[in-house]
Amino acid sequence: MKKVLVATEKPFAPAAVAQIKEVLDKANYELVLLEKYTDNSEFLKAVEDVDALIVRSDKVTKEVVDAAKNLKIVVRAGAGYDNLDLEACTAKNVVAMNTPGQNSNAVAELALGMMVMIARGNYNGKAGTELRGKKLGIHAYGNVGYYVAEIAKGFGMEIYAFDPFVDNEEIKKANITPVDSAEELYSTCQYVSLHIPSNEKTKQSIGFDLLNKMPKNATLVNTARKEVIHEDELLKVFAEREDFSYVSDIAPDCKNEIADKFEGRFFFTPKKMGAQTAEANINAGGAAANQIIDFIENGNTTFKVN
Ligand code: 3PG
Repeated sequence: MKKVLVATEKPFAPAAVAQIKEVLDKANYELVLLEKYTDNSEFLKAVEDVDALIVRSDKVTKEVVDAAKNLKIVVRAGAGYDNLDLEACTAKNVVAMNTPGQNSNAVAELALGMMVMIARGNYNGKAGTELRGKKLGIHAYGNVGYYVAEIAKGFGMEIYAFDPFVDNEEIKKANITPVDSAEELYSTCQYVSLHIPSNEKTKQSIGFDLLNKMPKNATLVNTARKEVIHEDELLKVFAEREDFSYVSDIAPDCKNEIADKFEGRFFFTPKKMGAQTAEANINAGGAAANQIIDFIENGNTTFKVN
C-alpha cells in the first residue's frame, strides 16, 4: 500500500483532511498525518518511508528529501513553491508539483478584505475612505491577480495590471488596462496588490523607487511573499511619506519598527492566512491527493515544476 504523508505545520481545515483521506482511500493509499509539528526532526522521521508528500508552506529541504528514502513525488498544496528545494528533488528523481489556482480566491478575498480594513483606518471609529473609483494596480496577473481584479470590479475600482508574461489582449478582455512596466503601474495606482512569486529575480525587488512613485494616500497590499519587499527601503517610504500604508499577509521582519513608529498605517496577519479557508484547503488538498495518484498510477506530470 502506497503511503502519502500530509505534513502541515499550519494544518488544513478538518474537512480538507477528510477530503484528502477520501481520495486516498478510494485509490487504496494510506494517509499519514503530521500536523502542527514543532520540530523538524518530527518531519524527518515521518517522511522516512512514504511514497508521496503533501505540504503547504512547510520547507522541503535537501535534508527532508534525503531522509525520504521512498519518495517519488511532493506536492505543494498551493501556488508558490519557493519552499521546495527543487534541485534536491530533481537530484533524487522526486517529482515536485504545485496546485495552481486552487486557493486563489481565498487569497484574493483577503487582499480586498485588508484593503477595506486599511481604508477604514483599521476600524478605529473615525471617517475613512472608500475603494469605489480608486485605481488598483495588479502586479502580476496570474490566478490570484485574476480574482483580485474580479472582486475589485464589484467595488467599482479602476483596474490596471502589469505582467510581462501575460498577453495584453487577455488583460484587456477582462476590462483591465494593461501597462508596460512596473514603474507605470506604481505611478498610476493608489492601491497596488502584489502577486509576484518569490525567486532570485524578485526577492527585495519592491523598494523605495517603485513605492515612492505611488500617488497620494498609497497602499501596498502584499498577499504574495514578504521576501519580495526590500524592508530597509520600505521603512524609508514609511518615514518619508505620511500618506503611505502597507497591509500584508504575514508580517515583515521589521514589523516592530513599523508598529513603534507608524501607528495606524499598517495591518499584518499574525500567520500567513490568505489560503486559510475551508474551501481553499479542500480544493488544494484534494487536488494534491488526486495529482499524486494520477502521477503514481498513470505517470501524469501536469503541474510538475522541476
Ligand atoms: C500559496 O502559495 O499557495 C499561498 O501562499 C498559501 O500558502 P499556505 O498553504 O502556507 O497557506
